[in-house]
Amino acid sequence: MVEAAAPVKGTSPEGAVSEADAAKKIREMFTLIAPRYDLLNHLLSFDLDRLWRKRAARRLRDLLQHHNALVLDLCCGTGDLALALARVGPACIMGADFSHSMLIRARAKIATSHRVPSHSGLTPPPPMALFEADALRLPFAEGTFDLVTTAFGFRNLANYEVGLREVQRILKPGGTVAILEFTEPPDTLFGKLYRWYFCEVLSRIGGLISGHPAAYSYLPKSVARFFRPPELASLMTALGFQSVDYRTWTFGTVALHTAVRSKV
Ligand SMILES: C[S@@+](CC[C@H](N)C(=O)[O-])C[C@H]1O[C@@H](n2cnc3c(N)ncnc32)[C@H](O)[C@@H]1O
Repeated sequence: MVEAAAPVKGTSPEGAVSEADAAKKIREMFTLIAPRYDLLNHLLSFDLDRLWRKRAARRLRDLLQHHNALVLDLCCGTGDLALALARVGPACIMGADFSHSMLIRARAKIATSHRVPSHSGLTPPPPMALFEADALRLPFAEGTFDLVTTAFGFRNLANYEVGLREVQRILKPGGTVAILEFTEPPDTLFGKLYRWYFCEVLSRIGGLISGHPAAYSYLPKSVARFFRPPELASLMTALGFQSVDYRTWTFGTVALHTAVRSKV
């Protein structure tokens, strides 16, 4: 297990010498693993990743039911959370990610999911807009979104505080943020088994199938180094978010944090 040696500031892929370098390495890593990303996600999580996104989307149902609600799925990758959100309600969903290869896959998946047979008589929903953008410098005006979500992306930011401030900026006053992330389970028998699976099995299979072992050895290291749920909640509170709350799922292996941008 890798212990956090210093206060967690942002991701730290091996060899990164600065925040800009860390971000560059992360973008290159996701670009390389994009072709096998979905397959490995479903395989290595025993399909639980789909369940987690679906659950997160269901928890946000009240917001997603509004026709006029604007939603941004940040670090959207191949679009699985954005699509899960779109299935829950008529809100307008957009996605942003800084890896072009991930976005290409998201676009293809979204196009298929929006196809409605011509004989069905149904009007297809509007296509989802995707933006190639860095989560630390988003091309959106202050107070644009009612809801900002992110699944398994936030941990990869080069600076978590800057990332949260950027989310705060683009949220409308009273808007909601939801962050779904891996977290380390407590050190019980299950926790020990989980760490063995995560560090020994998952990283090897991921490395073999993707052809990029470094990407899948980065995964358990980045989770071990990332905030524990109460720490992330404290940072969100310290930055001025209100109603900060979190719940953990699947024996404490993932956490969903939610919070609201203050109205003033
Ligand atoms: C583990 S994937 C998660 C993808 C998707 N949300 C999902 O649930 O499968 C992390 C994604 O975050 C993106 N990402 C990481 N840092 C980013 C940043 N600073 N700006 C934009 N996207 C970023 C990566 O390109 C990658 O697509």
